[in-house]
Amino acid sequence: MKALSFALQDYQTRIESVLDRVLPSPEILPMRLHEAMRYSVLNGGKRMRPLLVYATGGALGVAPEVLDMPAAAIELVHVYSLIHDDLPAMDDDVLRRGKPTCHRAYDEATAILAGDALQALAFQLITQAHEHLSAEQRLYMLQQLSFAAGSRGMVGGQAIDLASVGKTLTELELEQMHIHKTGALIRSSVLLAAYTVPDLPEKQLNQLDYYAKCLGLAFQVQDDILDIESDTQTLGKTRGADVAAGKPTYPSIIGMSAAKRKLNELYLEAVAALEGLNAPLLLEIAEFTVKRVR
Ligand code: IPE
Ligand code: IPE
Ligand code: MG
Ligand code: MG
Ligand code: MG
Repeated sequence: MKALSFALQDYQTRIESVLDRVLPSPEILPMRLHEAMRYSVLNGGKRMRPLLVYATGGALGVAPEVLDMPAAAIELVHVYSLIHDDLPAMDDDVLRRGKPTCHRAYDEATAILAGDALQALAFQLITQAHEHLSAEQRLYMLQQLSFAAGSRGMVGGQAIDLASVGKTLTELELEQMHIHKTGALIRSSVLLAAYTVPDLPEKQLNQLDYYAKCLGLAFQVQDDILDIESDTQTLGKTRGADVAAGKPTYPSIIGMSAAKRKLNELYLEAVAALEGLNAPLLLEIAEFTVKRVR
């Protein structure tokens, strides 16, 4: 596994300190809830979605300060989705990012509430984004994030996922599920950054959007592959969880080698979408997505 470039590592360091800053202190009431929120957020995620925000904004000449709140907001929605995804009523997982899941480290009610509070905080952060962003831009961003998070986006995908346990989906149905449960927030990361540029030409917006759609699907295809091919220690979550739960995944529906071919096709499509844009970090993130081991 090639290490991330210094530029992406810098953004990773940056988002860690932004997240630490925006999360309520564990000394503020209710302390246990705030502790659980911090436990789940500040625990070694790859920060792919914030990296996408910074890399997209960077390619468009936007300063990182302007991107901090959207980057943090998308990560908070993502972490909330992970906390709830791991709950006994959903995937019932015990390990996340190499540590006990939120409901194991705390309790189920606290995990539900921590997720709820992280989601609310995400929207609050967009309203408090950099003064460089107009009220209208913030509204567009709120609209985009709420759509991506809701029943037509991530939550909708999770509902399809849970309803599909033990079923054989067609490849098209599987793609629809993945586009929603994982693709929506990845697409939103790129779009939130694009919306910080008020007069971005439509052609560029469409190119970035297409890149994000391919990348979002690729990301979940690789997640499905890693569930089989990686190991619990590297993944930081239980290997084989999909198989054990009877989840339809790319390897289970089309087979492992076809899943890998699909992943590579999506990678090539994502890269091709960036043609003519000067976006080396977006290229790097695409490469990382298909080669990552966790
Ligand atoms: C895991 O996401 C859940 C999926 C959407 C596949 P990540 O692989 O981005 O998890 P973290 O944030 O690095 O822990
Ligand atoms: C990820 O689905 C989708 C969301 C968390 C929204 P998974 O259930 O495959 O994620 P992991 O494998 O538990 O991280
Ligand atoms: Mg799940
Ligand atoms: Mg899961
Ligand atoms: Mg998975």
